[in-house]
Amino acid sequence: MESPSRAFDVVVWGATGFTGQLVAEYLVERYGVGGSLRWALAGRNRSKLEGVRRGLEAVAPAAASELPLLEADAGDAGSLAALAAQTKVVCTTVGPYARYGSALVAACATSGTHYCDLTGEVQWMRRMIDAHQRDAEASGARIVHTCGFDCIPSDLGTWFLQREMRARHGVPCRRVKYRVKGFSGGISGGTAASMFEMLEEVARDPSVRRVMGDPYALNPEGRRRGPDGRDLATPVWDADFDTWVGPFVMAAVDTRVVRRTNALLDFAYGEEFRYDEATLLGPGPAGWLKAAGLSGALGGALAAGTVGPLRGLLRRFVPEPGEGPSKAVREKGYFDIRLFGEHPEDRGKSLRARVTGDRDPGYGSTAKMLGESAVCLAKDALPVGGGLWTPASALGEPLLERLRANAGLTFDITSD
Ligand SMILES: NC(=O)c1ccc[n+]([C@@H]2O[C@H](COP(=O)([O-])OP(=O)(O)OC[C@H]3O[C@@H](n4cnc5c(N)ncnc54)[C@H](OP(=O)(O)O)[C@@H]3O)[C@@H](O)[C@H]2O)c1
Repeated sequence: MESPSRAFDVVVWGATGFTGQLVAEYLVERYGVGGSLRWALAGRNRSKLEGVRRGLEAVAPAAASELPLLEADAGDAGSLAALAAQTKVVCTTVGPYARYGSALVAACATSGTHYCDLTGEVQWMRRMIDAHQRDAEASGARIVHTCGFDCIPSDLGTWFLQREMRARHGVPCRRVKYRVKGFSGGISGGTAASMFEMLEEVARDPSVRRVMGDPYALNPEGRRRGPDGRDLATPVWDADFDTWVGPFVMAAVDTRVVRRTNALLDFAYGEEFRYDEATLLGPGPAGWLKAAGLSGALGGALAAGTVGPLRGLLRRFVPEPGEGPSKAVREKGYFDIRLFGEHPEDRGKSLRARVTGDRDPGYGSTAKMLGESAVCLAKDALPVGGGLWTPASALGEPLLERLRANAGLTFDITSD
């Protein structure tokens, strides 16, 4: 069980990586060092960690030099158990998670250490749920995957819209549409590596393809069914938004997480709840052309990614691990999401919501979302015990308030 004598509230493992450094910068700026949040940097390489700490001194000159450094390697289960034993929460950006993450989840689940990450690897999350749910329930460890742009705007945005529908009309939305109006940002080497890792697994093992193709892949066993089918792959006219829509690149992850939230909340959104994600591409022939172009490009990239030699070719066009979008790109970046929640009986009572972020989705905003998720796990009174949760099912209201207050995210109802 969780020991009250743990030295740290939060340890950021992977602090030498592109995203890990941004999380560390965020925590230094927001929470300082030696204050009410006791936290540390961790990684596999001490001299690299020292370099990151020196870099943080630019943000917090005197304080950052006090930050403790911990060493742990993904290949050394003992070092991970020792890491997990010292902290209430491990916040990890060591990815691809399917390659480097499993032993840490095991260590946290057995030692009652809360955990949050940035994985978008559905096949790996399913393996972690199957392997560690019982241990986490027994130890009290709250394990929360997908605490970045995948899938907080989707998961918490839907949770927020459902809460507002209930507050106004006493019923949940029977359907929520998540529509990406715009975003600007870039991709890191770690994210690209995680995508390739997933494609390699799909190419190697047909059972992975089946899991990834299941819209309810992350629901608890016995609850893996519902009215939703495949993710959108072709242009569709969306009358609720008066525009053509095309696929959204993260839908295959986000939709599974939102559906898992519904199941974990004992179907608070209803057993017939429907959810889908798409990109808004405008009306008229120009909108259709954009939707068709996006569908073709995403479908083509996915198909190419499962073919070994083509995958090798694609790898040449993405950043190396450790690289990612520049500070200027992150600071100029944003995201703007629109949600439509359908009232179950009276369409006139349907609600619209908007979720926005003030930095690029994948790194500037994600670092703040992950940092706040970790602090939320360490500090806030949460409504659930141990287990493998989703952001909304475990962190709901407290995280929503943190993100609004500290992390530049907005969640608003835009129509009644
Ligand atoms: N969901 C989202 O919205 C979102 C957004 C951003 C990132 N991500 C995910 O976050 C992950 C990290 O991305 P990134 O771009 O930050 O990657 P990165 O720059 O390549 O960083 C990877 C980190 O993992 C560490 N690492 C690698 N092998 C290790 C081992 N054996 N033991 C311990 N640590 C090890 C690296 O340490 P060294 O420095 O010593 O090599 C580095 O700190 C990826 O899986 C990515 O997909 C998700």
